[in-house]
Amino acid sequence: MHPHDFGWESQLLETGFLAIFLCPVWTLSPVPRRCPPSLICIWTFRWLIVRIMLGAGLIKIRGDKCWRDLTCMDYHYETQPVPNPMSYYMHRSPWWIHRCETLSNHLIELIFPLFTFLGRRMCAVNGAVQILFQVVLIVSGNLSFLNWLTIVPSLACFDDASLGFLFLSGGGVKKTVLEIQNEDAAGRTPKPNKGMLIRRVVNISLAVLIGYLSVPVVLNLFSSKQVMNTSFDPLRIVNTYGAFGSITKERTEVIFQGTLNQDPKDPEALWEEYQFLCKPGDLHRRPCLISPYHYRLDWLMWFAAFQTYEQSEWVIHVAGRLLSNDSAVLSLLDHNPFQDRETPRWVRGEHFTYKFSQPGTASAAQGKWWLRKRIGAYFPAVDLEGLRGYFQSRSWPHPHTSPKQELKT
Ligand SMILES: *[C@@H]1O[C@H](CO)[C@@H](O)[C@H](O)[C@H]1NC(C)=O
Repeated sequence: MHPHDFGWESQLLETGFLAIFLCPVWTLSPVPRRCPPSLICIWTFRWLIVRIMLGAGLIKIRGDKCWRDLTCMDYHYETQPVPNPMSYYMHRSPWWIHRCETLSNHLIELIFPLFTFLGRRMCAVNGAVQILFQVVLIVSGNLSFLNWLTIVPSLACFDDASLGFLFLSGGGVKKTVLEIQNEDAAGRTPKPNKGMLIRRVVNISLAVLIGYLSVPVVLNLFSSKQVMNTSFDPLRIVNTYGAFGSITKERTEVIFQGTLNQDPKDPEALWEEYQFLCKPGDLHRRPCLISPYHYRLDWLMWFAAFQTYEQSEWVIHVAGRLLSNDSAVLSLLDHNPFQDRETPRWVRGEHFTYKFSQPGTASAAQGKWWLRKRIGAYFPAVDLEGLRGYFQSRSWPHPHTSPKQELKT
């Protein structure tokens, strides 16, 4: 898996693939009388939610001591990739709430999924717990569309009887479903025609395929060297999931700054900060709310912040694009301090630790959501001339300054 891929992308592929088999082929009716979705299709979704949860749960208890001593949630809200405003408040829950959260996380990811195999009532309980869990995650942070996507296979844990309340009584859909169920119960199912037989063959082949492709996935789940978010087949039909095996205890951020000063070593130089769409930067800016949307660059900056620029060279690429006033890269940012002015002569990356401010303190009263402390330079001040060699040796096109547009008068 490419390091810039995200687990929910293969999860989307897998969910989409399974959904193909739910659709009737020849009819647009929502409740096709002749070929309701096979139980096999429903079980492929249940199998998916079981794997997602066990993968996530196992990687945690194997990954980080804080999942075993139940302290992980003391850090998670503050250090997760892109916190939202609720994360700020949930971070301040009393310690025993954080312990309970971590414990419930384990129950939900390791115990409840097994309910799927214990009959329709228990299966529905698991479905409800999983959906509730995802809703809590959506409220407490920005994890892109991952949580919304995970709700989809959880829906398969319910059967018609438990979902019936969603349909107004006497409505068309409900009536048809009841009729079909009564016919089934009376043994008056329509004689299988050729289409239904073909469909049955397709469904059984699907079961065999998923079973076969699940072998390496299950072996990985039980392996002590469990890997996260991996596909074992080129089409990514059956994948293994699981992230946040280890939790960062301290939030660090890379902040891009630019100056118009000729001399970057001048202590008087005024360094102004670029702001990303969502990731923490300006201490006064409220954490953003973007779920289910995913700002990829903001997320990658989170990875970059606990590496070095040598490990994430693309950060220098971004710096070059800022120096050349590149509109494509600037469009991924929220605030360019050099907008309507000259482009900066120098750009540098500064490395900071970030902490939530404490509600009720002076800094919070001044409107600060974050407090930060400088660690040092993430990358030194660079200018276009100095980057020439760096870009050339990586065969990146050298950034050109786009000419200043004539101001229309
Ligand atoms: C930077 O590019 C924008 C358009 O993308 C343009 O309006 C602006 O004038 C440019 N700034 C400079 C200093 O060239």
